[in-house]
Amino acid sequence: MKKIVVFASGNGSNFESIVNEAGSVYSVSLLICDNPDAYVLKRSERLNVPFAVFNRNQYGSRREMEASICQKIKPLRPDLIALAGYMRLIRHSLLEEYQGKIINIHPSLLPDFPGMKSIERAFSAGAEETGVTIHYIDSGVDTGAVIAQRKVDISGLTLEETEEKIHAAEHQFYPQIVKELLKT
Ligand code: GRF
Repeated sequence: MKKIVVFASGNGSNFESIVNEAGSVYSVSLLICDNPDAYVLKRSERLNVPFAVFNRNQYGSRREMEASICQKIKPLRPDLIALAGYMRLIRHSLLEEYQGKIINIHPSLLPDFPGMKSIERAFSAGAEETGVTIHYIDSGVDTGAVIAQRKVDISGLTLEETEEKIHAAEHQFYPQIVKELLKT
C-alpha cells in the first residue's frame, strides 16, 4: 500500500475526495494545513485522518516553516505529496527532498489561467471550454510539468454552474490520477 500526504489550506473538498477513494492503492497518512481556521480540518477529524497545522506566524521565515513540515512528514516516508488547495509556494527543503513526488491540481487547462481565480477568469474571457490540470510542482506558480488534463465544456453555463462542473471534475479526476501515478 502506497502512502500519501495531502496539503490543504481551505475548504478541502479535494482532500475529502482523495480520502474517500483511498483503499487498495493508497492510504492518506496525514493532512498538512497552514491555516488553523480551515474547514478542511473539520473534514479531517470526521474522516479520521490525522492532521498537523503549521502557522506561518510561528516561524521566523518560510524556510523554517518548510523545514518543520519536512521533519514532520519524513518518518512517514510518503510516496506522494498531493497539494489540494494549498495556498503556499513549495520552495526549500520540501522541493529538494520530494522533487518529482509533489503534485498539484489546478482548475484550468494550464498554461492558460495560472494563479488565482482561474475559473472566474476563464468564464469572463468567454471561454467555451476550460478544465482541470494535474501537474508536478516546481518552484514557480503553476509552471511544473503537466501530468494530465481534463477538458470541461462550459458553453452556456453561468459562473456558478461552471464552478460546480469544474469542481465535480476535480473530485473525480484527482483521486484517479493519484492512483494511476502510484500504480506504476
Ligand atoms: C480547487 O479548485 C483546486 O483546483 C485549487 O484550489 C481549489 C481547492 O478547493 N488548487 P478545495 O479546498 O479542495 O475544496
